[in-house]
Amino acid sequence: MAARILVAYTTRKGSTAEVALAIGKDLEKTGAVVTVADMTTISSLEGYTGVVIGTPVYTGKVSGDVTAFATRFKDQLQQVPVAGFVTGIAPVYPKTGDVSVFTGQLAGALAPVQLVAVAMFAGKLDAARLSLIERGMTSLLKVPTGDFRDWAAIAAWTRELPAKMGI
Ligand SMILES: Cc1cc2nc3c(=O)[nH]c(=O)nc-3n(C[C@H](O)[C@H](O)[C@H](O)COP(=O)(O)O)c2cc1C
Repeated sequence: MAARILVAYTTRKGSTAEVALAIGKDLEKTGAVVTVADMTTISSLEGYTGVVIGTPVYTGKVSGDVTAFATRFKDQLQQVPVAGFVTGIAPVYPKTGDVSVFTGQLAGALAPVQLVAVAMFAGKLDAARLSLIERGMTSLLKVPTGDFRDWAAIAAWTRELPAKMGI
């Protein structure tokens, strides 16, 4: 039977959703049946044989949507392999935080589920899509804007998932 993988993301500006879609496309190439969806819209994990969770970091924190998702599905998430990724600017601009702190936050939000793989990828900060407050915050910290997503790094991480998830 083909693996059925859910790639569940949360996003404010869309870039984490695009990373989730890229991961989903690559997982499909392995023969898995993949669903990519906003985690706030998921009502059941029934039938999935693995889950990948993705969240951006905003002002030093991974999204509270992950905690809500983990609470909602705490029993089911312990039955399947779970991997997670974080997006943010920290990988290219360490003043915005420590990569290992953010991957640790994601792991902590999902505990007691043990992640089979966890990574942080550089995200996208689109100057045109920032609110006035966000622009103030990011310019105060001199945060660089642009699309820093490293699709090769994302694909390389995804390539290792089937073995780590046992699919
Ligand atoms: C107001 C604001 C605060 C942010 N804070 C952080 C942060 O503390 N650490 C970090 O690494 N990235 C931070 N980022 C960058 C976002 O995580 C990055 O742009 C991410 O790719 C956004 O994902 P999304 O498009 O899915 O919402 C921040 C971005 C904004 C606009």
